[in-house]
Amino acid sequence: MRTQVVIVGAGPAGLLLGRLLEQRGIETLILERRSAEYVLGRIRAGVLEHGTRGLLNAAGVGARMEQEGLPHDGVALCFDGEQHRFDFHDLVGREVMVYGQTEVTRDLMDARAASGAATVYEAEDVAPRDFDGDRPRVSYRKDGVTHEVACDFIAGCDGFHGVCRQSPPASAVSSFERVYPFGWLGVLVDQPPVSPELIYANHARGFALCSMRSPTRSRYYLQCDAGTNVNTWSDERFWDELRRRLPSAAADALRTGPSLEKSIAPLRSFVAEPLRFGRLFLAGDAAHIVPPTGAKGLNLAVSDVAYLAEAFGEYYAERSEAGIDAYSARALRRVWKAERFSWWMTTMLHRFPEASAFDRRMQRAEFDYLSGSRAASQAMAENYTGLPM
Ligand code: APR
Ligand code: PHB
Repeated sequence: MRTQVVIVGAGPAGLLLGRLLEQRGIETLILERRSAEYVLGRIRAGVLEHGTRGLLNAAGVGARMEQEGLPHDGVALCFDGEQHRFDFHDLVGREVMVYGQTEVTRDLMDARAASGAATVYEAEDVAPRDFDGDRPRVSYRKDGVTHEVACDFIAGCDGFHGVCRQSPPASAVSSFERVYPFGWLGVLVDQPPVSPELIYANHARGFALCSMRSPTRSRYYLQCDAGTNVNTWSDERFWDELRRRLPSAAADALRTGPSLEKSIAPLRSFVAEPLRFGRLFLAGDAAHIVPPTGAKGLNLAVSDVAYLAEAFGEYYAERSEAGIDAYSARALRRVWKAERFSWWMTTMLHRFPEASAFDRRMQRAEFDYLSGSRAASQAMAENYTGLPM
């Protein structure tokens, strides 16, 4: 078989790349290891930057987002019970859209199914080959039969644990990593959110986050020790601990219930360089991971594939390699800025086991400066709502 671009992975990065290339008349084949139901079953974050919202609309997959999503023009940060609101409209004239990543993925899957573009779910042993030459190909097994696809380019959108970043020689890939000494215990509940906007709280007992998926479904997170066993956290214990870490008004307003989903996510910052190996390109979690504190994971995957689609578009329309040659450096410039913001939010808002009394004072001073300075608040709002693509 032959196609122009083989995309490995049907997460938001792979599906959106497929959509953007389709709009440019470029043929793609998506190979996904799991079933579509499994991919849609993952509970992921849901804060879309200004630019991400615009791109999903331009890709023709934003209608349900605009109908069901919740535009937010502010966010609250708390320190030891003292709350400060950042008014995005006033500070930077923009807003974010609260709309679950699962819903974004569903909208992209539906659009792809409707267009009839080729997707193979439950594709096993996907293996990118010969991408250091000009005749790359990808082999995979489906229902016990081995297939091979010839193509011009391979897009590795297969996440952190995927095969694509493992495919170039190890010496060709540089990795930069910070693993944080704690995780996030998340709970999904069918109760109205405690607040119309997100609340990020730094408390002596640890970090807490109040988020939502809709006016009737909420998502809450607690900082927990790395290696915590989720079974040691009953719903009751979770709600008790959350109340302790929230400002009193929010604690009193909190509506609890049985958890629909409860899981623990480790926190890490990770970047692989470069993002191109001949005719193999990496995008999204295959290339980088951010701690969720800045809500940048999905938004970075979106900017990566926006740049990659532009580059492939230029190649097929003008036979120009300028875009594909510039892709890695261009995407990494935005990735590192988002890594910086996510690391900064994580460092300011979490309780570090090894922190000294001086470190704690530094966190406090960071919060006081941030909430007391318009310039600092604008910088925070600019990063949170999304740096230019
Ligand atoms: N072969 C085929 N598919 C694979 C393989 C493989 N060897 N390995 C992984 N995959 C698939 C996974 O099953 C998954 O559906 O690649 C997809 C990668 O999707 P994501 O992990 O969602 O990554 P990405 O599309 O880059 O989206 C990044 O996801 O984790 C969040 O916070 C992150 O929001 C960010 C977003
Ligand atoms: C979420 O809604 O799951 C969420 C929101 C903001 C974050 C992280 C997660 O920073």
